[in-house]
Amino acid sequence: MKEKKLRSQEWYGRKGKDGFIYRSWMKNQGLPHHLFEGEKPVIGICNTYSELTPCNAHFRELAEAVKRGVWEAGGFPLEFPVMSLGECSIKPTAMLFRNLASMDVEESIRANPMDGVILLCGCDKTTPSLVMGAASVNLPTMVVSGGPMLAGWFKGKKIGTSDVWRFAEQYKKGELSEEEFVAAEAAMSRSRGHCAPMGTASSMAAMVEALGLALPDNATIPAADSRRKVLAHMAGMRIVEMVKEDLKMTDILTRKAFENAIMVNAAIGGSTNFILHLLAIARRIGVELDIEDFDKFSANIPLIANIQPSGEHFVEDLFYAGGMPAVMKEIQNILHRDLITVNGKTIGENIADAACYNRDLIGTLEKPFKPESGIAVLKGNLCPNGAVLKPSAATPSLLQHRGQAVVFEDIDDYKRRIDDPELDVTPESVLVLKNVGPKGYPGMPEVGNMALPAKILAQGISDMVRISDGRMSGTGFGTVVLHVSPESAIGGNLALVRNGDWVTLDVPNRSLMLEVSEEELEERRTSFKSMNLGYDRGYVNLFIQNVNQAHEGVDFDFLVGASGPEVKRDSH
Ligand code: FES
Ligand code: MG
Repeated sequence: MKEKKLRSQEWYGRKGKDGFIYRSWMKNQGLPHHLFEGEKPVIGICNTYSELTPCNAHFRELAEAVKRGVWEAGGFPLEFPVMSLGECSIKPTAMLFRNLASMDVEESIRANPMDGVILLCGCDKTTPSLVMGAASVNLPTMVVSGGPMLAGWFKGKKIGTSDVWRFAEQYKKGELSEEEFVAAEAAMSRSRGHCAPMGTASSMAAMVEALGLALPDNATIPAADSRRKVLAHMAGMRIVEMVKEDLKMTDILTRKAFENAIMVNAAIGGSTNFILHLLAIARRIGVELDIEDFDKFSANIPLIANIQPSGEHFVEDLFYAGGMPAVMKEIQNILHRDLITVNGKTIGENIADAACYNRDLIGTLEKPFKPESGIAVLKGNLCPNGAVLKPSAATPSLLQHRGQAVVFEDIDDYKRRIDDPELDVTPESVLVLKNVGPKGYPGMPEVGNMALPAKILAQGISDMVRISDGRMSGTGFGTVVLHVSPESAIGGNLALVRNGDWVTLDVPNRSLMLEVSEEELEERRTSFKSMNLGYDRGYVNLFIQNVNQAHEGVDFDFLVGASGPEVKRDSH
């Protein structure tokens, strides 16, 4: 270990006044001098604990388990807080602050004396924000996820996040009383952890496991299971070794690792938000990845894991059935298996002994739960830079569809008119929602699977083609075209759609066309005016000025890339 001086010694190993200052205040925590002498790697534990992020509210305990592991392996753990994004409470959308949190993470890691990092991640945006920030520094780094909740139980039935919409409908129709509705709240969220289905949080936890950035089983051990703390303890031990081996993020996050993550996300029916976050992470670490890769690498992967929202069960059940290693083993002949992961073993070694204990949960390539999974990336004059659709969440008969646009200029226009009995709409219409993209909303909210007009629902119709520049919750479904790029707020062709225009969606041929001539579009473009949302100061203004488009990952232009771990100036 002595070959390379620890990075933290650039602080603690100094002589004279500087060393005094770097060490003295630390010692007010009761830390003995020998900890600063360069024998023990300093492990930063980047904690997104917050009572306002209930999915991560158990992270103090999780951090303690990591620390035990770090101490045991001869490291010196130091925990620090970063901005925590709670999906369920943050207005207007946690996505607006993902890049801000990533800046907090990046600068906290670089500016402080640490040699390796454990990222404690849980609720949706807490994983990508931490991984993006850490990637721009590139120290030895490992993710420890908080784990999924236990499935809820209500009236004798297992429930999870996707049931919220069902309960809300039943309550509206008077089938659930006020008391029952409130009781369902506590019944659903009965344990620590993040959402129980394969929503964005668990898709992100699976992503880091597939990338090789987390230990095997990181994605599925329930938060309440004592083995979650064992995993945290083992992560604490292993990160000390990673520092000694100098196993950095760039060693793990190769182009092939990203291809693996795309294949695994398809096999589990993961969230469409995965696309934006993986693109952003790739661009931080300097790997070339574009939106077409999501279609290309998921094309041969069917739905292997039978988990909500694409299937029936919960992430907890997937753990009991064998977890992600068992899922990955089913597609092992397609995966790149020779890639190094955080435990020093390859993907292939990590899944070699995996076993499936329940074929209701984990299918095979020959007998999958659905033949089609993954992501369809659409191109056409309505989305020159791409748009996405999740075929496994769509209605097969709508995947090739021609209809006339019913246009909503923004979310307020939509809310005002969607249930208007006079709305000129039929089940064949195509609902078009503008100005819900990265700059337009701002923050690209999860409104893409907008509710259908009341008068269509009254006909017993449950799905229509919907198009927007917004996102959809990882637990959402429908024939919804999302992430249209360029977005309408910057004058993308989506902004030029008018009521009655014909739109053709052709998913098998990956096309989305507005049947309006180029001349007519040019004509309409001359009268395009961007909205003034009145954000002329502060972070939101910074966001609008600098955010890139959906096909680029919705990162800030000035954050793309990395600056490494070096700090050029001293503090005194
Ligand atoms: Fe936190 Fe779903 S609200 S993971
Ligand atoms: Mg979500």
